[in-house]
Amino acid sequence: MVAERLASDNPYRKDMLGSFLAHGLTREEAEGETLTQVIAGSDTTATAIRTTLLYIVTSPRCYDSLVSEIRDAAAKGTISAPIKDSEAKTLPYLQAVIREGLRVLPPVAGLMSKVVPKGGDELCGFQVPEGTDVGVSMLGLQHSQEIYGEDAAMFRPERWLEAQGDRLKTMTTTWELTFKYGKWQCLGKSVALIELNKIFVEVRMVLLDCIRLSFSQPPFHHSTTCTHIYTSSTSFSLVRPLFSLTSSEEKKLALTNR
Ligand code: HEM
Repeated sequence: MVAERLASDNPYRKDMLGSFLAHGLTREEAEGETLTQVIAGSDTTATAIRTTLLYIVTSPRCYDSLVSEIRDAAAKGTISAPIKDSEAKTLPYLQAVIREGLRVLPPVAGLMSKVVPKGGDELCGFQVPEGTDVGVSMLGLQHSQEIYGEDAAMFRPERWLEAQGDRLKTMTTTWELTFKYGKWQCLGKSVALIELNKIFVEVRMVLLDCIRLSFSQPPFHHSTTCTHIYTSSTSFSLVRPLFSLTSSEEKKLALTNR
């Protein structure tokens, strides 16, 4: 992609790659940056959507609570179509579902180590020499029973509605680390949260109904590979063969998707 652009008539045309090149990135740097944009901005959110949707449609209690919260809000006219980010933030169960999905399977799960700077540093009371790689197991942290309770490995959005005070604060600050912190924090965090705030409401209810009816089994494993970030070529194709639409449902879906 970068080689093609450099060989083109207009390498600096108005897009991200054009901007990188216009700001003086070398070919190698632009290649690295392009990969970051594609993987950081798409596979991460795609993993969060896939995981959360899978848990929603395979957890009847969660599914029912979420659908009734959305339907109530739609009936009261407190959400638009499509839902606005600000409106989604007023739906407590939806927010709990989004948090829980990112917690149970944090999309960026590699150590993503950082190097201790010159002079060393002190971490949690330990002296760490300069040059040491320090990383965190995000999956381990987000499944901590000490922070989230004995059922930390389970997808249970209700934990976010039950917790209060210091416990909720600790859970929230720990959860925020799925996007890292400080100078290493994800630059697309707000974009990712806007996407997540909309998707689970906008996925057509009729489709969710069909998926739910077709699941008679507990959650299955979905095929995913984790190097540092989860990637998958299967996505929803695992879900699709498990259900079929009746002709009236197909018509309804076609109408609602217009
Ligand atoms: C649920 C979705 C997402 C999660 C969980 C996530 C998580 C992360 C994490 C943990 C990092 C820090 C990596 C490190 O330790 O160095 C990061 C960095 C980054 N993310 Fe995200 N991300 C998500 C979505 C996005 C989106 C949608 C975009 C772009 C629109 C994006 C753009 C970036 C970029 C550019 C960086 C590198 C920041 C830097 O250090 O310069 N991310 N992300």
